[in-house]
Amino acid sequence: MTVRVLTGITTTGTPHLGNYVGAIRPAIAASRRPGVESFLFLADYHALVKCDDPARVERSRVALAATWLAAGLDPERVTFYRQSDVPEIPELTWLLTCVTPKGLMNRAHAYKAATDANAGGEPDDGVTMGLFCYPVLMAADILMFNAHQVPVGKDQFQHIEMARDIAQRFNHLFGNGRALFVLPEAVGEESTALLPGLDGRKMSKSYDNTIPLFDGGAKALQQAIARVVTDSKLPGEPKEPEGSHLVVLFDAFATADERAAFRADLRAGLAWGEAKKRLHDVIEREIGPQRARYDELMAHPERIEEQLQIGAAKARAIATPLLAQLRQAVGLRRFQALGAAPAAATKDKSAAEALATFKQYRESDGLFYFKLVGPGGDALLLQSRGFEQGRDAGAWVARLKKEGAAALAEAPVTLSADETAVRSALDKLAEAA
Ligand code: TRP
Repeated sequence: MTVRVLTGITTTGTPHLGNYVGAIRPAIAASRRPGVESFLFLADYHALVKCDDPARVERSRVALAATWLAAGLDPERVTFYRQSDVPEIPELTWLLTCVTPKGLMNRAHAYKAATDANAGGEPDDGVTMGLFCYPVLMAADILMFNAHQVPVGKDQFQHIEMARDIAQRFNHLFGNGRALFVLPEAVGEESTALLPGLDGRKMSKSYDNTIPLFDGGAKALQQAIARVVTDSKLPGEPKEPEGSHLVVLFDAFATADERAAFRADLRAGLAWGEAKKRLHDVIEREIGPQRARYDELMAHPERIEEQLQIGAAKARAIATPLLAQLRQAVGLRRFQALGAAPAAATKDKSAAEALATFKQYRESDGLFYFKLVGPGGDALLLQSRGFEQGRDAGAWVARLKKEGAAALAEAPVTLSADETAVRSALDKLAEAA
């Protein structure tokens, strides 16, 4: 069985080393494992909760996309998309919002932190509904793709728990005995999931203690490392590595042997200045080559855009049918003759299960294609030629769905299976439409 792994990163500011170690690197590593189907996305709707500066939102989305691609994300293997390119996500958010207990949201760390900060005053001062409902949107991100695993920093574990709770509730209410949603699990790199910042607190934009990843180039990295806070022990004095956040930072980029040597040398009196140089070297060894790719992509945002369009189409090929099923489950159904309703409903369901489906996608030649695959998704029935415009491919899909086999003679497609089988699959689709 393939495991679905999904993670998102909020597009505010520019990514720092904490984002890289906590989310980007483990997600990319996971995406390369066999048996893994990966979903990686830019959480730009989440960015709107925290940021009302359009220019900053825009810049940050490009920078993040370039970062992931530069960090080794393979868009062929991974479904890589922007949250805001998948309208099914906000629609699912509403379905989930309607089953989410308010009390659950009251307990969210981010919301509690905001109300605690207002101690003595009006508790909800400065709290938007976006902030309050943030975990529901995040649940929709995850459940939309039925992700099994979600690699995130520990600060996000609570949100994954909430997604499970919400999924369970939805399954219970509307699943009719079967699970509409997979219950997701959080996964983190235990040792480094929360990277400390310059001052030893969690690395976070809000503490202004971050080490930049690519922003500002090699120089900015060097300058940030120079500002890592240490104790005031002099060169030659033994230093205790355990509890030093400089060592934690080092560990995140070093091999096991390097970690052991670093500790031994500190205990033997290695100067902090020298220790910082070694920290810089292990980070630069990993980040340097990525920075060159990053600069290249930032100079060509249109290349990133193209990848994201392909990703959105792949994501929607999954989201659209699942959402249709969910709408059906909650009772947002087509109207039909009253007497026929129950029978038609069961017939509908078995028919839906036996239907072929159209898939639209874009190839590396830049053209848009569609194909028809049999129920279950593995038998290829027909294949279109390439179209310059995605909407032209879409128009043919719509026509074939509506007219069935009657439209086949004119359609710019080649059959990949027995003609009678293709005709019957198309007619069944048209009947169901
Ligand atoms: N809230 C996450 C963060 O701030 C980003 C995020 C949004 C996310 N949706 C997600 C992460 C879904 C994992 C899965 O880091």
